[in-house]
Amino acid sequence: MKKLLIALCLVLYFGAGTAAAGDTAANAELRPALLLTASQSRDSQDLSGQWTYSKDLYRTGLNDINGWVAKSRMQRYRDIDIAAAEAKGGVEFFEFDLDRSAQMNIPGAWNAAAPTLRYYDGLVWFQRKFNARKEPGKRAFLRFEAVNYRAYVYLNGKEIGRHEGGFTPFVLEVTDALRAGDNRLTVGVDSTHDAQTIPTPITDWDLYGGITRPVRLITTPATFIDDATLSLGQDGRITGAVQLQGAQAAGQVVKVAIGDLATASATTDANGRAVFALAAPGKLQRWSPDSPTLYDVRFTTSGDAVRDRIGFRTIAVRGNEILLNGKPIFLRGISLHEEEFGSNPARNMTEQAARALLGEIKHGLNGNYVRLSHYPHSETTLRLADEMGLLVWSEIPVYWTVDWENPAVLHKALVMQAETVYRDRNRASVVMWSVGNETPVSPARTAFHGAMADNVRALDPTRLVSAALLVERHKVNGEDVTEIQDPLADKLDVLAVNTYAGWYGADTLAALPNLKWKLPTDRPLILSEFGADALAGYRNDSMKKFTEEYQAEYYRQTLAMAEQLPTLRGLSPWILKDFQSPRREHPVFQNGWNRKGLMSETGVRKQAFGVLADYYRSKAAR
Ligand code: GCU
Repeated sequence: MKKLLIALCLVLYFGAGTAAAGDTAANAELRPALLLTASQSRDSQDLSGQWTYSKDLYRTGLNDINGWVAKSRMQRYRDIDIAAAEAKGGVEFFEFDLDRSAQMNIPGAWNAAAPTLRYYDGLVWFQRKFNARKEPGKRAFLRFEAVNYRAYVYLNGKEIGRHEGGFTPFVLEVTDALRAGDNRLTVGVDSTHDAQTIPTPITDWDLYGGITRPVRLITTPATFIDDATLSLGQDGRITGAVQLQGAQAAGQVVKVAIGDLATASATTDANGRAVFALAAPGKLQRWSPDSPTLYDVRFTTSGDAVRDRIGFRTIAVRGNEILLNGKPIFLRGISLHEEEFGSNPARNMTEQAARALLGEIKHGLNGNYVRLSHYPHSETTLRLADEMGLLVWSEIPVYWTVDWENPAVLHKALVMQAETVYRDRNRASVVMWSVGNETPVSPARTAFHGAMADNVRALDPTRLVSAALLVERHKVNGEDVTEIQDPLADKLDVLAVNTYAGWYGADTLAALPNLKWKLPTDRPLILSEFGADALAGYRNDSMKKFTEEYQAEYYRQTLAMAEQLPTLRGLSPWILKDFQSPRREHPVFQNGWNRKGLMSETGVRKQAFGVLADYYRSKAAR
């Protein structure tokens, strides 16, 4: 029965047609109701700062012991001054008070905010009071950049909306619930993961529950620009679309201006959508890591205007080459978790924190590429990659094990892809959408990923599709051969594999350059992961594992092996810096940190950093 269900789901998916670009019927259903892309260009009230919080491990604020509506004395979202109510006396009493609760800095994960919360995994209620003006004819929205993992949003005691997914933005309209003057915003955040979430609880990174990215109150005209995209096609034309929302969305003239190079205008159709197409101006500078040119693009209608900084470039595969702006490129990269330098990171990726990390890649390693693993990173990081000139591999956390047979889980993955693509499709740096990481091969898993690959191509036909695959090793004529035996490979533009010979398993480092690989010759290959743990400062020339010397030699030998792969077009070794993982608990070397970083958590470079930097410097010179 289950197989029939998933097949039905896939037929629905395939049947809906996935050829056209943009919003086809299939993925129009996945489009979030509200996007407010380019909202960074709008007047908005940043609600970052000190929020109060109230733990709710037994979820009493959501429902009662028998699953009914929570008791009012526990409803954290009530719009009530509890101290004043208590001062009056009477029979009512309360078992929370977010006005007098402890505070923590938002954005940022609660695990870093207080020792009692370090490994807390469950429901926490947050409150922020703020003052707002109500302007007649204007609409008001709350845009959350990310809440990990489920969000329950209330404003002035009214439920506004919910969201599932820890790494993608969501927008909720609050025009009616917003008050002129003081407002009480209450957000329930549930970090709990289970077998039907994406990811499941089985990962190799830390919990980081909470409101981990900015929250903004955004006001717009009654009819506003909800989405505006523009990109350069292989045919040398610039195309894009603007989507208006509101009563006057149809029949509106929309203008676009690309710096001072070109303008175009179009009129919205009955659905409020205007489509643009113009020849690329002769003076248009293509975006590239060596020349990350961004243009100030302005989208205007009679009543609204937004701006975005957009780079124009093309990315394609030709045979086993990756072409950027028509020329073969080698991706000199590294993998990165969203975790700032420091001994107690809160996944609070400020521009300064992102610049520190990306600067090590661009200038320290001579890199031109970063794998933003294993989930969509903050828009701050993506915009910085645009500005600094780093190509990006983007992925959603369909990681290791997912409930492949469950259509509702597939739907979550497709929605997560849509939320990511709609947010990032104006980012020149993003060149690849990955549909999975190290997932064990099975028919249901391959069908699941296949639907994801089709979905992301329908949402965005301008970028490449990949996945970090597992490799198989077996004997051929007595020789050890590594190859990709994964039917998903047929759905990918770029093959990518994670390989850890020399760290996991029994291979000696000396054996690595002689490892034999059997690879398809018709497609480019990326080594999307390889790495070895080293505790910064643990030096010992005995080549023991966890020493810096072992990690450095591991890199030398793995790079020597990589050099022999004829279709190799990129590397994103695992990983720029040590990161927190409850999976890694060796009391001397790890203590809750995965030590495969080329740098320590506080930014100390290990010997292997120099090995990769030298290799990339020589690669760039070739
Ligand atoms: C896997 C996985 C990473 C993990 C790494 C490791 O390849 O993709 O998320 O951290 O291996 O074992 O360190």
